[in-house]
Amino acid sequence: MLEMKNISKSWKGNGEVLKDVSLSIQKGHSLGLVGPSGCGKSTLARILLCLEQADSGEIHYEGCKLNSGNKRQMKQYRRKVQYISQHPESFFDPNWKLGKSIREASFIHGLNTPELNEKIGSLLLGVHLNESVLERYPYQVSGGEIQRAALCRALLLEPEVLVLDEATSMLDISVQAQILNILKEIQKVRSLSFLFISHDAEVVTWFSKEILELKEGMLRKI
Ligand SMILES: Nc1ncnc2c1ncn2[C@@H]1O[C@H](COP(=O)(O)OP(=O)(O)OP(=O)(O)O)[C@@H](O)[C@H]1O
Ligand SMILES: [Mg+2]
Repeated sequence: MLEMKNISKSWKGNGEVLKDVSLSIQKGHSLGLVGPSGCGKSTLARILLCLEQADSGEIHYEGCKLNSGNKRQMKQYRRKVQYISQHPESFFDPNWKLGKSIREASFIHGLNTPELNEKIGSLLLGVHLNESVLERYPYQVSGGEIQRAALCRALLLEPEVLVLDEATSMLDISVQAQILNILKEIQKVRSLSFLFISHDAEVVTWFSKEILELKEGMLRKI
């Protein structure tokens, strides 16, 4: 279980974006998060991923409080909890071909098995990407392609939780539906947990039974 406990966050000049926010994502479950643009959904996600520091509050994973000073704990957490950002290009080195970025993540986490290329091939197939994207730089692919490459890299690390922040918003409706179906399949097989963030309440409702709305810094169940 992944928990956020009493998180508050203010941005300079923006006031308090998150006010004593708590949530929990159960193993194998999908939690939806909706809210108007600028309400703080990505801020919440980035704090959950420890990419941003909260002003107060705690993150707990599998019963343990996360401590950013504990390198071993953070490395494991960074593999187990994967983030697909609404700005996927900022998670790729612009000077590296996508294939190198995708493989590097596996190397860092010691997952560079002899089957790595085969696994990458089948994941690319699953997200409807041609293998030729591996030989391209981030500026040489479309927004939808880099979003799917990010998804492929995340799944390669065999995460336990996926935080999807507008992760399919750049895709055509038909591709979006195919990818959401793939994610649902993976969820069943691997008992993956999701935090599914979107403006699009319809997509969130299709993906998650339990939905939270973030408004004026506070969460409520809808
Ligand atoms: N690093 C930052 N420094 C200052 N302000 C920030 C920073 N990051 C986000 N903000 C501000 O915090 C508010 C919430 O931003 P956030 O990106 O979390 O919203 P969001 O709900 O994800 O919006 P959207 O649905 O458009 O993606 C916005 O007003 C934004 O400008
Ligand atoms: Mg956002």
